[in-house]
Amino acid sequence: MKRKAYITSTGSYLPESILSNEMICEMVDTSDEWIQERCGVKERRILKDKDKATAYMAAEAAKKALQKGGISKDDIEVIIVATATPEHPFPSTASIVSEMLGIKRAFCFDVSAACSGFLYALNIGARLIESNAYKSVLVIGSDKMSSIMDYTNRNTCVLFGDGAGAVVLKPTNNGFGIGESLLETDGSGYQNLYQKAGGSLFPATADTVLNKEHSISMNGPAVFKMAVENMVGCCKNLLEKHQIQKSEIDYLIPHQANKRIITATADYLEMKMEKVALNIHKYGNTTCASIPICLDEWSSKFKNGDKLILCAFGAGYTYGSTLVTWNSGLEENV
Ligand code: UT7
Repeated sequence: MKRKAYITSTGSYLPESILSNEMICEMVDTSDEWIQERCGVKERRILKDKDKATAYMAAEAAKKALQKGGISKDDIEVIIVATATPEHPFPSTASIVSEMLGIKRAFCFDVSAACSGFLYALNIGARLIESNAYKSVLVIGSDKMSSIMDYTNRNTCVLFGDGAGAVVLKPTNNGFGIGESLLETDGSGYQNLYQKAGGSLFPATADTVLNKEHSISMNGPAVFKMAVENMVGCCKNLLEKHQIQKSEIDYLIPHQANKRIITATADYLEMKMEKVALNIHKYGNTTCASIPICLDEWSSKFKNGDKLILCAFGAGYTYGSTLVTWNSGLEENV
């Protein structure tokens, strides 16, 4: 059977500090009721330590994944970090994570695809394994969204939180693992969701700071419409392309941007909510971290051979879906 990659272990890291809706209500003109009803968020986690950021959370999640899988750090050949809030503009956060984990000589790089970042990174990692080039890939999604949040802007600050999730990929020849995928980008709406300044077009100046152009800027309703259209669309197209019936899917693992977007995707798939990974109420939108955190929290439910559909939509616009046949590692692997 064709060599594939499978998720051999998962880990996640959530900062201890909780930012509740009640606390947000003291910062901006909003209400617990509005946030829960329109977004599905009750609270989020915030990394408060001034000397810690995206790489720290990524390394903590990775340590847990390695420990859970009984995998030595010395086995890791590739580290891919998906993030929208890198430790620095350069070098890559993955380089810093390799140092934090004490991993030498690995092939390390970041993936920038906003909320679809983990899905993009997972697919790159899987293809590296399928190509026979590598046997052990660490894929991490980590974001310190609080570092680019304007806590006076109710359009964005109610939604986002900090966190990280990690998976270790290994090869298998039992036909299970990371399967068909559909990843696309539509650049036409990039200005509806972005961090305007701090890059090469608008480097940091006193004005960019004063104008809060280093914080996330979002046209919520425009992004919402595209998110529903594309989360549903990429699941539909993937299933149709590979002639897979909705009834064959056991679990939906969606990016956690807004509970209403998740529900719309679940409705299309005719999936009961108990089969949908949901943690937006606890963590808000953790951008690149949301899918791997869900995988870590839900993996104990998955049985060998269960079919999962992972899907995401984010700034760019980036979006995609991936089918995973869960491999509990009980079958013979290569
Ligand atoms: O992960 C990357 C992708 N990101 C997303 O997918 C996010 C997509 N967008 C959304 O989730 C939603 O658009 C939001 C949650 C950001 C906003 O929800 P909405 O239902 O689209 O609200 P809206 O902006 O259309 O505003 C509806 C009403 C307005 O009041 P009026 O004009 O009807 O009186 C807003 O002023 O809700 C008001 N509003 C708020 N009220 C209390 C907007 N934001 C808030 C708020 N608290 N935070």
